Amino acid sequence: MADIHITIDGKQLSVPRDSTVMEAAEKAGIQIPKLCAHPALKPIGACRVCLVEVEKQRGLQPSCTFPVSEGMVVHTNTPAVREARRFVLELLLSDHPMDCMTCEQSGACELQDLAYEYGIKESRYPGQQHSWPEQEANPFIYRDYNKCILCRRCIRACDEINGVEAIGLIRRGWDTKVGTAYDGSLQDSPCEFCGMCMEICPTGALTPVMRAGAGRTWEMKKVTTTCPYCGVGCTLDLMVKDNKVTSAQSNWDGAANKGWTCVKGRFGWDYVHNEERLTTPLIKKDGEFVEATWDEALDLVADKFVEIAQQNGPDALAFLSSAKCTNEENYLVQKMARGLFGTNNVDHCARL
Ligand code: SF4
Ligand code: SF4
Ligand code: SF4
Ligand code: FES
Repeated sequence: MADIHITIDGKQLSVPRDSTVMEAAEKAGIQIPKLCAHPALKPIGACRVCLVEVEKQRGLQPSCTFPVSEGMVVHTNTPAVREARRFVLELLLSDHPMDCMTCEQSGACELQDLAYEYGIKESRYPGQQHSWPEQEANPFIYRDYNKCILCRRCIRACDEINGVEAIGLIRRGWDTKVGTAYDGSLQDSPCEFCGMCMEICPTGALTPVMRAGAGRTWEMKKVTTTCPYCGVGCTLDLMVKDNKVTSAQSNWDGAANKGWTCVKGRFGWDYVHNEERLTTPLIKKDGEFVEATWDEALDLVADKFVEIAQQNGPDALAFLSSAKCTNEENYLVQKMARGLFGTNNVDHCARL
């Protein structure tokens, strides 16, 4: 299908026919504020912070859901647009704890960023505020729905990305909140603790338990790595402070996983700093394990391999590799077994 032609903030663009106004604007380098929209999710037009002026349309339109059409002229930053966004933000903040000083999300909060951009220190619409109990019964995700803006990104991520539907909107009207069936704990729901809801939440409503008090986002170094747990090879961004892993974030460009990860990749990082973790090889001497150098350990293993093969033949040996190794490492293991020792006793296990 041929592209169509539109004008956004005076820029003439040629964009795919099925684009939304927000997608077309982003393609042209024009950023429109958003809270409920996310590139990994289908747009629903829930928050209204992305309103823009579309010529010949009555009223402002949500750019994340509004489709482009031939000849369309859009203005994304007029006084009317900015005033409408400001109004939306103030309504959201009228029921928000404004707890940025101690909030774990501060510095990485999309709501905070927009309040800063629009110069909002307090809401002109003070009124009733929610006082939901904070929920931290599970060891992974800290849930504070007082900071929730009901954007439903978490619900859509659980459904559209993870395919689990553990959470949804419960109750009605003012009492509407995100929750599991019967508002129980995540453990008692189908939740798999993939953490995608937390990753995609634009505010501090969902944060990693293990990261509480570990430091501010701007103090952390982002280290892109491959998850060591299984053979899928998911790409992850580790947030590291003082050489300590504080959390794992989605890497949306990850070739194998496109941002998704399982519970182990998302939360299973405390072992890295476990004091009981072996950091040097151990060799048994006089019935006791003692620390050895890598050269000592590898020489011992090589000698034993040769000794067993000479005494009992190559099929007395078996080689177990691991799905956690790279393809190249696994190739070398079978090459050593078959080429060097002459046995086909080769296998692997994802749990090794
Ligand atoms: S969620 Fe965002 S706006 Fe709300 S207190 Fe935390 S940092 Fe501040
Ligand atoms: S952790 Fe994953 S499975 Fe559990 S509610 Fe969040 S998105 Fe759904
Ligand atoms: S918990 Fe976060 S992602 Fe879910 S609706 Fe609330 S603000 Fe949005
Ligand atoms: S980002 Fe468009 S309505 Fe929320």
